[in-house]
Amino acid sequence: MKFLPISLVSLLVTGCSAFAPTPSFHSTQPGLNAVPRKDSYDITLLPGDGIGPEITEATKKVISSLCKRCGFEINMNEALIGGAAIDEKNDPFPDDSLEQCLNSDSVLLACIGGYKWDKNPRELRPETGLLKMRKEMGLFANLRPAKVLPQLIDASTLKREVVEGVDVMVVRELTGDVYFGTPKGIDVVDGQRVGYNNMIYSESEIERIARVAGDVASKRGGQLCSVDKANVLDVSQLWRDVVTDITTKEFPDIELSHMYVDNAAMQLIRYPKQFDTIVCGNIFGDILSDEASMLVGSLGMLPSASIGESGPGVFEPCHGSAPDIAGENKANPLAMILSAAMMLRYDLERPTEAQLLEDAVEAALDKGLRTADIKIDGDNCELVGCVEMGEAVADLVTSLDLKTPIEV
Ligand code: IPM
Ligand code: MG
Repeated sequence: MKFLPISLVSLLVTGCSAFAPTPSFHSTQPGLNAVPRKDSYDITLLPGDGIGPEITEATKKVISSLCKRCGFEINMNEALIGGAAIDEKNDPFPDDSLEQCLNSDSVLLACIGGYKWDKNPRELRPETGLLKMRKEMGLFANLRPAKVLPQLIDASTLKREVVEGVDVMVVRELTGDVYFGTPKGIDVVDGQRVGYNNMIYSESEIERIARVAGDVASKRGGQLCSVDKANVLDVSQLWRDVVTDITTKEFPDIELSHMYVDNAAMQLIRYPKQFDTIVCGNIFGDILSDEASMLVGSLGMLPSASIGESGPGVFEPCHGSAPDIAGENKANPLAMILSAAMMLRYDLERPTEAQLLEDAVEAALDKGLRTADIKIDGDNCELVGCVEMGEAVADLVTSLDLKTPIEV
């Protein structure tokens, strides 16, 4: 995935790609295309922890039936990340995993983390592996769409009239901020422990994410809300100034607004339809994207894309590893399947195939299949497990009518 390919942006036109009309794919930015379309791709799968291996299995089956139907190959090679990597290699993202990811056409990640490693020293925690991956692969832009699907409106904890029609895209900066700033640590000062991190952004870091957000917003509803805490934080004042500068100069047609993060958190549940595209720093984006995802009803439905200026992107569900239900065949594989669709569209130049995958997911929901996280009491839908949901989508990929003929 190259710097903000328009191809990726096209996903964002309508938020969650799963239920969007087929977006136009072609990049208008020369030299910024995804991997050239080919007959055989190599991707890295990172199953990670908790429910990760189950949803990866389900997604692999779906990808295999897609390839079979559409006449191309995706070689899926697994690598270690997170707790699984700690257990096997004593390193949450070993260099050979990084190497493999960098040499792939694209990367599909399930999820990481679990109670087992929660008390480890920081360098041996699964999250450290994820952060290393983001930093080393230069994935500075994280796009998290939250689009409410008609089939799942009642799965939201919010009232129907509040969430119906919601289509928000959170553009989160992913390799800076208090996540990576130094100095950081826990020291002893005057006889007591003091913990500190550094919330820091350079101008160029803000500029590049502002450009991604501007591009995304211009391909969606043309409204960009930049979230910060400029009433208190200097780093946020710089953020606000730079975002304003870039947007006014480079995206004059965009309607830019600014909101303090505390207000944004409140507005997101009060009246979410006021938002189109939100741009924010790493920590605010972490928090707000989880909040936005619950508008949709379940984190189990949301894919995401992380991209950099060059090299493969990483596509992953927004949800965590749900260790409480791991191994029980209760997980929802749809967010990972939809992440695979995003990968096909934005890294592998296979938009028609991506659409078929997305249509198959929608068709499975239309058939009334529901995993536990999206099942509502008395909804007359059929409760299925991760395996069954994966198989249903794989079957639908094989049998569904194509809206657009596959190019061979
Ligand atoms: C996310 C997660 C990660 C983050 C954790 C697991 C390190 O919450 O992707 O949102 O904080 O970025
Ligand atoms: Mg998070």
